[in-house]
Amino acid sequence: MAYGLLNGKRGIISGALDENSIAWKVALKAKEEGAIFTLTNAPIAMRMGAIKELAEQCNAEIIPADATSVEDIENLFTKSTDILGGKLDFVLHSIGMSPNVRKGKAYTDLNYDWFKQSIDISALSFHKMMQTAYKQDAMNEWGSIVALTYMAAQRTFPFYGDMADAKSVLESIARSFGYQYGKYRNVRVNTISQSPTPTKAGSGIGGFDKFFDFADKTAPLGNATADQCADYVITLFSDLTRMVTMQNLFHDGGFSMTGISEDVMALINKE
Ligand SMILES: NC(=O)c1ccc[n+]([C@@H]2O[C@H](COP(=O)([O-])OP(=O)(O)OC[C@H]3O[C@@H](n4cnc5c(N)ncnc54)[C@H](O)[C@@H]3O)[C@@H](O)[C@H]2O)c1
Repeated sequence: MAYGLLNGKRGIISGALDENSIAWKVALKAKEEGAIFTLTNAPIAMRMGAIKELAEQCNAEIIPADATSVEDIENLFTKSTDILGGKLDFVLHSIGMSPNVRKGKAYTDLNYDWFKQSIDISALSFHKMMQTAYKQDAMNEWGSIVALTYMAAQRTFPFYGDMADAKSVLESIARSFGYQYGKYRNVRVNTISQSPTPTKAGSGIGGFDKFFDFADKTAPLGNATADQCADYVITLFSDLTRMVTMQNLFHDGGFSMTGISEDVMALINKE
């Protein structure tokens, strides 16, 4: 059911790779709620083709941009405001990748060139997007910028590798830029810390299936799905959350506040 929460709003949605992507679900819901937007992803993701289906469904243009390239991001914001006919009301950063995690490098044996890439792709890209929007004055007053993160920024999950460090930087950037953008244009900046979700990025983490089940059995509400995450993102883009900024918001069915659950204890008792 649609509520018209984003009627008349314009935005940019990054990170829709395939129909499992969190950004894919956000795009479908943003369209349903009345928004117009552009879609973006790394040029290499374009070749996989699926984003074109989404663009057709959403009547949205695709602007390829490598999120580590300031030049690409400048082009993304300039073209988006041109195509959409004015300044933006929302931006979704839904981008993450660690070559160390992807190639199975242990945290005690990191390749530092890859580590820099993890930080650049997964965290600095968020700063680059906001700095570009700020310099171009591309956001409307009371706009909303959201990035997706994971709880490994606060607590250690051994298999999450250097992505944990990247997410810590990402969340810190949300606070630091949130202050600046709040003062400048009343624009709010938040991160959503989502449950484990079966997507390309999620499933690339070692032991994902077991960890997914553990989180699901720990959280009193169970794991939040990608669809539910998209609902939450839409509320943050809407005018109903105008005074929420610089926050890391857990969207995890209560996992982050639960020590242990009866369901997990039952599993341990079996052994
Ligand atoms: N899946 C999970 O369990 C989970 C949990 C919490 C947070 N998140 C976060 O949600 C976000 C979206 O991930 P997802 O789970 O939907 O997976 P996904 O694989 O569908 O999305 C990740 C996206 O990042 C894009 N990307 C990678 N490198 C890029 C670059 N250089 N430039 C531009 N785009 C680039 C990919 O093309 C892809 O579209 C990520 O930040 C991820 O860390 C995921």
